[in-house]
Amino acid sequence: QNTKVKLCCCQKMPIIALGVWQSGKDTKQAVLDALKAGYRHIDTAACYGNEKAVGEAVKESGIPREDIFITTKLWNDDIRAGNTRKALLTSLQKLQMDYVDLYLIHWPVEGYVEAYLEMEKLKEEGLVKSIGVSNFRKSHLQNLLSQVHKIPAVNQIEINPQMQDEETIQFCQDNKIVLEAWSPLGSGACLHIPGIQMIADKYHKSTAQIILRWLLQRHIVVLPKSVHKERIEENIDLFDFELTKEEMEIMNALNQNKRTGPDPDHFDF
Ligand code: A2P
Repeated sequence: QNTKVKLCCCQKMPIIALGVWQSGKDTKQAVLDALKAGYRHIDTAACYGNEKAVGEAVKESGIPREDIFITTKLWNDDIRAGNTRKALLTSLQKLQMDYVDLYLIHWPVEGYVEAYLEMEKLKEEGLVKSIGVSNFRKSHLQNLLSQVHKIPAVNQIEINPQMQDEETIQFCQDNKIVLEAWSPLGSGACLHIPGIQMIADKYHKSTAQIILRWLLQRHIVVLPKSVHKERIEENIDLFDFELTKEEMEIMNALNQNKRTGPDPDHFDF
């Protein structure tokens, strides 16, 4: 359950995280349920407005802080305003933590190179253990890499059966940037694809489990969101079956380049 991947800075990160975007008032209970189910990685962001609830759940769980991997993200307004350090300190205060395991640039908005250079300093200071980016396409990564000192440990992007940005995926894998999939289930939209249901029937698993397993077999970290205990438990129960090469290919072929979220090349927030 707590299988981990090694990040470029040697830190180890559990390959399944609970995502809490849009978990709202259910966040604290969802995190408690996840920790009880064996999750040791929670993915939040300043803009989700629930860092406080995540922090409360971690405290209340009684699990040592160092056993849990916490990711949060720097919001666009703070990137544009050059407020990186201040924004991290605010996040830490809300989380009631003295460091986060991973700090990500949330979107490639104007000022992301300067923000990343600040994040490199925060890493030196030990306030964040690893740094990375989110919603970066290959072109953003190439631009970033040409101007910074440390390679991002992670790129967190939308990946699900209908949305596979192969160019970016390949670039990250070639450069040893660990990929994380947000909305791995396509916000629920991928759960009813007939081809996936057929594979699910074979293994007596749910379509959600097939999708998550497919991503893990592609060496992509998954961040499924749920506020339901049974689903939270289901989404980490992925280690008693293995998809065949043919089934992996069936899943890969479902790509439609269809995003459920904003396009990193054209967004306005
Ligand atoms: P809920 O939070 O009500 O359980 P994604 O992670 O791709 O954004 O997908 C999240 C959506 O999928 C949410 O609407 C969540 O609903 C739902 N979901 C998460 N896990 C499962 C599951 N195992 N089975 C069915 N729906 C799920």
